[in-house]
Amino acid sequence: MQITPIPCLTDNYAYIISDNNSKIVGVVDPSEALPIISFLNKKNLQLSYILNTHHHFDHIGGNAELKKLYNAKVVGFVGDKHRIPGIDIALKDNEKWTFGNSQVKILHIPGHTLGHICFFFEKEKAAFTGDTLFSLGCGRIFEGDHRQMLTSLEKIKKLPKDTKIYCGHEYTYKNAEFCIKYDNDNIDLKKQFEKVKKLRLNNLPTIPTNLEDELKSNIFLRCDQNDLKIKLNMKNQEDFKIFKKVRDLKDSF
Ligand SMILES: [Fe+2]
Repeated sequence: MQITPIPCLTDNYAYIISDNNSKIVGVVDPSEALPIISFLNKKNLQLSYILNTHHHFDHIGGNAELKKLYNAKVVGFVGDKHRIPGIDIALKDNEKWTFGNSQVKILHIPGHTLGHICFFFEKEKAAFTGDTLFSLGCGRIFEGDHRQMLTSLEKIKKLPKDTKIYCGHEYTYKNAEFCIKYDNDNIDLKKQFEKVKKLRLNNLPTIPTNLEDELKSNIFLRCDQNDLKIKLNMKNQEDFKIFKKVRDLKDSF
């Protein structure tokens, strides 16, 4: 299975998923149709599915045009079927859905929005995390609360460590600057920042990242770690309080 990031709008990524054996092709979170159409034309591919992690405009903006052009089926969360444009296949939390030869597990991960989901391709160990988990960051909390967001991130943390993370935006550089500010002696983070700097200097995507690196370097996934609690002068405080503090700091960064 091939996964190709397609830059859209200013800093969004849509992803084309192409199953070479079954010839099934999907796109995750097409914020606009044109870059998707031009990639599919170039590779002579037909689109079968449009997968949406959540209903925000910069994730569904291309749905209508792509659906019409390719007669593709739109796949999203059942709880958001009233606001995912053109939805055909409405999936539940923990449901397994078949894409070509792949099994996809749906994880409901509210916080950024109430109906946010992650598509986890089990065999391929690829997770599409939308605007919930970013590389070195997490999404803003718009509809849910901090408790929900932390629980959602904890769900993602339980995926296999070698899971590749495909997120909705190229925010990694700015996220790394924030992590460094509060976690400045984290050697893994420093290494990852150097990698990110090189990639961005060459205008290359920092995505996919992988869960193992994120667990070591992403401050939002480290709220249960004592060394971070000490750095924040919050020793012995519960993980939730650390997460809320870090999210608030990031909101004003
Ligand atoms: Fe969003």
